[in-house]
Amino acid sequence: MLINKAIFPVAGLGTRFLPATKAQPKEMLPVVDKPLIQYAVEEAYAAGIRQMIFVTGRNKRAIPDHFDTAYELEAELEAAGKSELLEMVHSIKPDDMECVYIRQSKALGLGHAVLCAQCVVVNEPFAVLLADDLMVGKPPILKQMVDQFEEWRASIVAVQEVPAEHTRRYGIVAGTPVSERMMDITRIVEKPAPEDAPSRLGVAGRYILTPDIFSEIRNQPRGVGGEIQLTDGIAGLLRRQKVFAYTYDGKRYDCGSKEGFLQANIELGLAHPQIGASVREYLKTLNL
Ligand code: G1P
Repeated sequence: MLINKAIFPVAGLGTRFLPATKAQPKEMLPVVDKPLIQYAVEEAYAAGIRQMIFVTGRNKRAIPDHFDTAYELEAELEAAGKSELLEMVHSIKPDDMECVYIRQSKALGLGHAVLCAQCVVVNEPFAVLLADDLMVGKPPILKQMVDQFEEWRASIVAVQEVPAEHTRRYGIVAGTPVSERMMDITRIVEKPAPEDAPSRLGVAGRYILTPDIFSEIRNQPRGVGGEIQLTDGIAGLLRRQKVFAYTYDGKRYDCGSKEGFLQANIELGLAHPQIGASVREYLKTLNL
């Protein structure tokens, strides 16, 4: 397996979701019945990754607890003969999955969070998943990217077209197409104003990176918002080696925003095997 490690930067404060995130991590907010972080971990697992590296911070205890054994709960479910629920609780962390937790003691930015995991990643290519981008695709988006990595053996960022007025929310890339969905990146800029954006292709929260990114992040000055930006590290990397943008096949819900979070709940609610039909009936009664 070429990509065996994934980094989940989960130290952010989640201020856009206050008061919900005052005492719980934003990554634990549920879409229908599953926390955001579990969707991201399942996506990495489906891509063949078995080592999950969480870069956490203060007030994030619920994340390691979620991926740990819950003895009392499991004993109660077992005693009550609720075997399906027990099975579901077990499946949150399959036996062949390993979880590693690293503390990011200062909120210095996404690039810094990735750098915090260097001691575990060491010298192999790895994935980065931002849990507040909930990605839905068949095959799952990261699996699509791992397949591309097998072919191109270079760093890959997931992209999608974004409205011109939204370029300030994203890393924006420009480059030369090399296949239907792959582009050889020549420029990447973090959160440019629309008039400065080199294109309208915005980076979504999925990356496959070579370990050379670490020294590049380290060499960058502080970027947008005074933070150590992953995008700036990637801009440095593409001066040394190829970096590709992959236009993924699927849908992204920006669960870092209230609108995106609600859209995800509605659409995944509609697609849910148990409640989908009744959600549809309910929405019809609203006569929108
Ligand atoms: C981060 C990255 C940005 C990327 C975005 C995707 O920004 O810095 O380049 O486009 O994730 O969600 P954030 O949303 O954390 O501000």
